[in-house]
Formats: sequence, C-alpha cells, structure tokens
Amino acid sequence: FNVPAPVNEPIYGYAPGSKERELLKAALAEGRSKVIDIPMYIGNEKVFTEDKGKVTPPHDHQHLLATYSKGTKAHVSQAIDAALAAKANWENLAWEQRAAIFLKAADLIAGPYRYKLNAATMLGQSKNAYQAEIDSACELIDFLRFNVSYMTEIYKQQPPVSPRGSWNRVEQRPLEGFVFALTPFNFTAIAGNLPSCVAMMGNVVVWKPANTQIYAANVIMEVFREAGLPDGVINLIYVSGPDAADVIFAHPDFAGIHFTGSTGVFQDIWKTIGNNIHKYKTYPRIVGETGGKDFILVHGSADAQVSSTAILRGAFEYQGQKCSAASRVYIAKSKWAETKELLLRDLATLKMGPTEDFSNFINAVIDEKSFDKLAKYIDQAKKDKGVEIIAGGNYNKSKGYFIEPTVLVVDDPKYTTMSEELFGPVLTVYIYDDKDFDETLEIIDSTSIYALTGAVIAQDRYALDKATTRLRNAAGNFYINDKCTGAVVGQQPFGGARGSGTNDKAGSMINLLRWVSPRTIKETF
Ligand code: SER
Repeated sequence: FNVPAPVNEPIYGYAPGSKERELLKAALAEGRSKVIDIPMYIGNEKVFTEDKGKVTPPHDHQHLLATYSKGTKAHVSQAIDAALAAKANWENLAWEQRAAIFLKAADLIAGPYRYKLNAATMLGQSKNAYQAEIDSACELIDFLRFNVSYMTEIYKQQPPVSPRGSWNRVEQRPLEGFVFALTPFNFTAIAGNLPSCVAMMGNVVVWKPANTQIYAANVIMEVFREAGLPDGVINLIYVSGPDAADVIFAHPDFAGIHFTGSTGVFQDIWKTIGNNIHKYKTYPRIVGETGGKDFILVHGSADAQVSSTAILRGAFEYQGQKCSAASRVYIAKSKWAETKELLLRDLATLKMGPTEDFSNFINAVIDEKSFDKLAKYIDQAKKDKGVEIIAGGNYNKSKGYFIEPTVLVVDDPKYTTMSEELFGPVLTVYIYDDKDFDETLEIIDSTSIYALTGAVIAQDRYALDKATTRLRNAAGNFYINDKCTGAVVGQQPFGGARGSGTNDKAGSMINLLRWVSPRTIKETF
C-alpha cells in the first residue's frame, strides 16, 4: 500500500469577521467558561487523584482553567506496565493500521479539533492565534502526515543484495522495551510529535509533558484516542521530574528517550542513564533537542527592511520562547542606523496583552520563574556599563507575566546576554565594524555553545558564501536572507548539534530511524 503523498496543511488567517475567527473565539470562550478536571491516561483508565495541580493562563494567572491529577512513582510504574502490556499487540499490528490511526489523528486536528487545540494553546501557553495556528495545529498535522510517509519509506526500503543461493533481508523492529517522551511547553506540535512518531514505529510510550503544557496535551490525547489509538500505547502522566526519573531510568525495559527541553535537564538525564547502563536490556536511544542561542548576522550589503523584519519576527514572535528564536544580532555599522529606525518603528506598533484579543502580537511569558529570570537580566542590563536599552525594558506580573519586547545594544560581543540562553523577549545587538566581518564570524562561532538556528542577511554573494561556510557548525538550521524561526515540516528538517541536542532532525526519516532496531536476516537456499 502507499500512503497519500503529504502536503503541508494550509494555514488559516483568522481575518476579522471570518468564520474561522468566530469558531476560534467560540472555542476560547468555551475554554474560559468552565474549569475542567484533567486526568492522566494509563492503559485503559483515566486516572484521577486527590493531589491536584492548577492550570492558569500565563496572561491571566488568577483565572483557573483546569485542575490536573498529579501522580506518584506508583503511577509511573503503572504507566510502564500498561505500555509493556500493550506492546505485543501494537508491534504486531500491520504498519498500515498504525499509519491509519495517525493519518486520522491529523484529519481530526485539521477538522473538528483545530479550534479546540489552538484555543488550548492560546489559553494555556499564551500563544497568539496566528502563532497557535502555525505552531500547534498545522505543525502537528504536518508532523503526523509527513512522518507516516517517512515511515512508509522506511518499511519499503530496497532490500540488500542477495547473491544467488541466498535471500538477505532487513526487518525494522520496534525497540525492545518502552520509550519515555518528555515534552516542552513552547510547541504543542512538538508535544504531539515526540510520543506519536515513536509509537508510529511500533513502540509503546510513557509521555510526560511540561506542567505548563498539560492543557493542550490533554486535547492531543483526546485526539489520539478518538483516532483509535489502542489503550496503553501512549500513557500520559503528570508526575514530578525526579519521581519519573527514579522509576523510568531504573527500569530494565527502558529503551529510549525522546526529549525536548533544557540542556541542563538533558545532561542530567544522560548522566543518569549512563550510571544505570548496566540495568538495561538494550542501550537506550537518547534523542534530544535542547537549548539555543540563535543568531542573526547582518552584513553591510543587507537590505534593511529584510533585516529588521527578520529580527523583529525572529526575536519576538511567541515572546522569544521558540527554541529557534533569535536572541543575538550582529549587525554591520553601515546598516545599523536604517535598520534600527525600521525596527523601532515596527516595534512601536506591537500591542501586548492577552491572547483572547487577536490584536495583541505580544502575550505573556510562560510562568513566574521565567518572568523573574528575564526581569533579572533586564535589571542587570540597566546597571551594566556598555549596555544601552533602546526598546522595552519594562515588565509587570500583576495580572499576567508580561515583559515588553526589549532590545539591548552592547559594546562587548561577549556580554552575558550574547551567549547565555534567556528564552524570552530580550534581544541583544552587537554592532561590528564592516571591515571586521571575518572576525565577527569567528566570534559567532566561538561563542556558539549552542548550535540550533542562525541566519545571515546579505546581498553580497561572497559574504553569504563566507558566512555559510565559516558558520557550518554553529547552527543545525541555517537561514539565508530570512529569520531563523519557523522551520516547516517536510521543508526544513529541524534540529541542532553542540549544546542544542543530538540533531536527529524532527519531522524526518533520520528521527524515525532512531525508533527502530533493524534485524538482518540471511536465508541460504
Ligand atoms: N519549528 C520551529 C521553528 O523552527 C521549532 O520547533 O521555529
């Protein structure tokens, strides 16, 4: 069988007065009108516990959207048991049947669940309607459809050569055990992708989302269930990180982790897995996308409007909380005055406020911890010599965690905010002398402890070539004359190396191949 050739899901514009905007507004109103009680999903059970966590919109932190049931170590064990109990049936199901479930899930999100999922992302993660449409619904639909097609290619790969008298074949087996999916707050699509692409390849999963993403994770789980995902294939639990780690990484059937989150957590996990390596049946697959300190480099030949739009969108969409977000800019002195004027002009038009008002481009940062961290960096910048704040610099958490889009200009390319990950709407700009372009490339590369995304903006082809060559290892996703965010599934496989992860490109065959363990069979006639 062949699966339908995937195409990227068309993006709705939510124009004022459109039917789509009304439907999304209705879903938002519905979400705000009631407090739901979110269960864990373990095997065939919805599990409710007495110990409740709260879900509130980051832009309106006194409004209760939902409570969720917190689990304990016992629930982690139950989730593993449920996964292992589902394993035999799931891995023996024909892959076409697995494909059908995930294709149906994509259709459900494209259709009846689109508004519910986007509204959940807008309320629970404070992402505006346009970003939710792109980063939640459409990207998840694309992940599901494209991954099904990559899966098909994997199962249909040409067999090895078989000289006369023998038949050689390669069987793509699921991993022997269960996989742990640990997902981030910032992309609902990633939260849906990490467990589903593992399950697609015949594996069973224990899934723990970030606490700040539970509201949308619950909708994703509803979709998977309605699409016909059998009980126990993906088990969704809400437990503390240490409780999950204690049980999961000590289990002999732990077969892999699919992770997106912070570098620190990933490194701790890697160490724990290393310490426990003797306990496992197989060497676990460790796949992670972690931090970023993504850059935009503007050459003296750049177009100022292209540069300022790339900087504004790259740095401030979703409050700079995309792993791909631009947080440091290196700009040629000859281009700065014009680019700065355009940037400040456009920044002044951006409204900040709750996501329910579609005219707000900037919404809240995810939680108090993130707000406090960003406020601290801004306060420090206000005190430090050699730092000028040319936009923003104010913050307020009385109703929601709001931080103005802030632009710092520094005279030292090694200033803290040029290399540390802030994960918020604070951009640092360094102005270099046009003649120092080569030296600037060296600085960018040597300060890139992360290497997720980067962009160069120039019209001079020699400059583009130099940057592309010299910054080869400084970004896993490199953009020429564009912002450094917004990779599209099927178009730009996404991921980075160095401190940014294992670079197993989300939404690609490379990633899916991590979730199979091939067996070679030789038969002699
Ligand atoms: N696809 C997103 C981006 O490139 C990150 O996951 O912005």
